[in-house]
Amino acid sequence: MSPKEHIKRRKNLISMMGDRSIAILPSASTKIRNRDVEHSFRQDSDFLYLTGFDEPEAVLVLIPERKNGEFVLFCRERDPKMELWHGKRFGLEGACEIVGADDAFPIGDMDEILPGLLEGHEKVYYTMGKDAAFDSQLVSWVNKIRDQKCSNCHVPSEFIALDFYLHEMRLFKSKSEIVLMRKAAKISSIAHHKAMQVCKAGKFEYHLEAEIVYEFNKKGSETAYPCIVGSGENGCILHYTENDQELSNGDLVLIDAGVEIEGYASDISRTFPVSGKFSDAQKELYQIVLDAQYAGIEKTKIGHHWNEPHEAVIEVITNGLVKLGLLKGCVKKLIKDGDYKRFYMHRTGHWLGLDVHDVGDYKIDREWREIEVGMVMTVEPGLYVNNDDDIPEKYRNIGIRIEDDILVTKAGNDVLSKDAVKTIADIEKMMASK
Ligand code: GLY
Ligand code: MN
Ligand code: MN
Repeated sequence: MSPKEHIKRRKNLISMMGDRSIAILPSASTKIRNRDVEHSFRQDSDFLYLTGFDEPEAVLVLIPERKNGEFVLFCRERDPKMELWHGKRFGLEGACEIVGADDAFPIGDMDEILPGLLEGHEKVYYTMGKDAAFDSQLVSWVNKIRDQKCSNCHVPSEFIALDFYLHEMRLFKSKSEIVLMRKAAKISSIAHHKAMQVCKAGKFEYHLEAEIVYEFNKKGSETAYPCIVGSGENGCILHYTENDQELSNGDLVLIDAGVEIEGYASDISRTFPVSGKFSDAQKELYQIVLDAQYAGIEKTKIGHHWNEPHEAVIEVITNGLVKLGLLKGCVKKLIKDGDYKRFYMHRTGHWLGLDVHDVGDYKIDREWREIEVGMVMTVEPGLYVNNDDDIPEKYRNIGIRIEDDILVTKAGNDVLSKDAVKTIADIEKMMASK
């Protein structure tokens, strides 16, 4: 992502902030996994969006109309000893020269400097409640100004939710964001194909996961979320991640996996038979989910509101379940009473971007919001049929989800993940082409 894009985003935000305001945004922190071992660092998505700066222990401060520049960054200083152990740092010079900060200060000096930056500003744009330790630091800086009791000192009096503005900005993807999301979807599609091709009874779910992660890592990238590889009854566990069961002929395997490129996620689910051939019963259920997905994608266009894809999906699913005898009664009533939720219990999609479940409101003034050009969302219907006594044997332990990433365009939509095969015929062909 070019630094120009970050400059544009900061300018956009500043233009919304108004006079005598200041925005403060801390980076993510490293998290301890267990003794002396850290989880791999993932930058806070809002921070990444505005800075492109991928280090912990940093704080962004934006001050419209500041004489010495509007973008102030607190970050770690260069430190040869620490860098020998933990890797390179941008340092204060890098923060200015590479990240584009107008001023950079050591993070250790923040307590000294930030009250001075806050002083004289009326409004503070800040996301309260996300980082309790930082919340209380901010309150202590405000109190420090108040305690000075000088007649000229102006204590900030208005706290405004920064995330409200940022998340609305993040909801609409720019051309360069779409380039990255398209790339992520392409890499993930290849990984799903690889998993289909190596799949064979006697292997374990983790063998398919390894294939997927290998494809992602080969591109210098990582998973956007833990891979779900659920075969047989595990396909019915929505957030299954153990991935340790042996694959058996006769079972389906559901894979939900996506790579993250420069922070941008893809989120793709595909379901296929371990043997390479769907049974007739599996085909019946699979085709319902696929038809439901086509109906959902058709509604993922301008002129529709956020909930319309979901409504289209549950109509196709409920109709299909009635035809197969898994639900009994009038389709309208089954939908109204939510009876379909026994087999389809999640919603049809979510925003996608720097977070896999990306930010942005789904409702405005309590009404579902309109779908608009530049939004990216998933459409991911599923069917999860367990082994209850009243379920005919042939339909038992079948979990199916088909998930694609959809960009809304002027002309309709663009399925970013369209490379990943999903018709019954195409999947069987892909699996046969080992
Ligand atoms: N992979 C998580 C989801 O599909 O929402
Ligand atoms: Mn999803
Ligand atoms: Mn998913």
